[in-house]
Amino acid sequence: MLSREDNELMCRVGPGTPMGEALRRYWVPILSSYQLPAPDCDPVKVELFGERFVAFRDSEGRVGLLDELCLHRSASLALGRVEKGGIRCLFHGWHFSVDGAVLETPNVSDPRFRSRIKAKAYPVREAGSMVWAYVGPAELEPAFPHWSFFDQPPERVLTVTLVVPCNYVQLQEALLDSSHLTILHQDAFKRGSSIDFVSSVNSSTTAAVSDPKVEVEDTDFGFYYAALRAASTPEGDNVTARVTGYVAPFYCVNANGDLLGLIVPIDDHRTLHHFVWWSDTKEISKEPHSADLLRFTGLDEDTLHKCGLHPDTWHLPGKPSRENNFHQDRTAMRNGQYSGLHVFFPEDAAVLTSSGEIRDRSKEVLAPADVAISRLYRTLLSLPKAIREGREPLGLSADLSQVKGRNGVIGAGTRWQTMTDQDASAPADKASSAMA
Ligand code: FES
Ligand SMILES: [Fe+2]
Repeated sequence: MLSREDNELMCRVGPGTPMGEALRRYWVPILSSYQLPAPDCDPVKVELFGERFVAFRDSEGRVGLLDELCLHRSASLALGRVEKGGIRCLFHGWHFSVDGAVLETPNVSDPRFRSRIKAKAYPVREAGSMVWAYVGPAELEPAFPHWSFFDQPPERVLTVTLVVPCNYVQLQEALLDSSHLTILHQDAFKRGSSIDFVSSVNSSTTAAVSDPKVEVEDTDFGFYYAALRAASTPEGDNVTARVTGYVAPFYCVNANGDLLGLIVPIDDHRTLHHFVWWSDTKEISKEPHSADLLRFTGLDEDTLHKCGLHPDTWHLPGKPSRENNFHQDRTAMRNGQYSGLHVFFPEDAAVLTSSGEIRDRSKEVLAPADVAISRLYRTLLSLPKAIREGREPLGLSADLSQVKGRNGVIGAGTRWQTMTDQDASAPADKASSAMA
């Protein structure tokens, strides 16, 4: 539970807000690289923290991020032409490079004019099949973080980007909520799949226990959160531990350590949700792995369009919404389906959006299983507080390559924290790619 004031402070991210100011201090994952597939491809509108930008890949393959509205008279560069080493505004043809330099001004012949002006351009990096940008104050730009999946070749990294019409905190909460996994998503697990994690969740004691004991431990990047479930094995009483990492302010590493949820506010009411899977061995961005993973999680292209989550079509009329009860199929429910919704991520999107665009946390009743959720509130609220007090916000300098999720069986007397120690070997049950 949060006061209305703290809820507003945590959720509002527009220009000039304390949380918006805090989030702008970090490198931000803005796109999957596949959204800019080739040199001189179509530009992409990017909205972050209530502000509008345009991303493009120039003739050399470099990615640029500029303010969306043209320096001259504010036509949208998202209508522009990407050509000859830059993006050209359609209106009067001003031509901008990825660093904002003005290459041509067809309606001003004197070259001294263009040499005196520059478009607002932001630092951009491409790593791990994702595009990252820094949109905060130039003098405070932090070092670019390094995630372990940056070291994988592109074939072993699979990303997908979607838009969800609710506040970002609602999506982050769901990634820190192990107890909903085998309730809300039970249809998916009943249906099964050949992908690794389904057999794991189905066969492990994890699936049978919906009220895990939850423990949280603060770290220099955020916190680790463990969902602990009693597991009787032939060797005696043990505990199944699913350990998830929350990395302020955008990330959650799943308990298997092979899936990162990246959650970035578009504005107060819409959120970019990227998923990144990686593998040490499999070419998961290729078939059949990618199709299996995306279909099972409800993140394949067709489902994203159908469920109103695709970045290109989410805004079209007729998509599932609160107004039409998310196209819930009550007949299917009478015939044995639990949720009546398209399974897995669209189920999350529906329940999270059903709370309203910004959930009123002054009215919630948190349960013992929600310990990580209260810690999330505390962690997020610490970011603007740190800035107010002149300190660096949490995680800005942390070594993210060391953040890992863990999933395994430990002895009843063993501390789960040992599972995330630097040298701990991977636990036996390395199987589930579910987020929580
Ligand atoms: S508005 Fe862009 S060139 Fe004139
Ligand atoms: Fe979920």
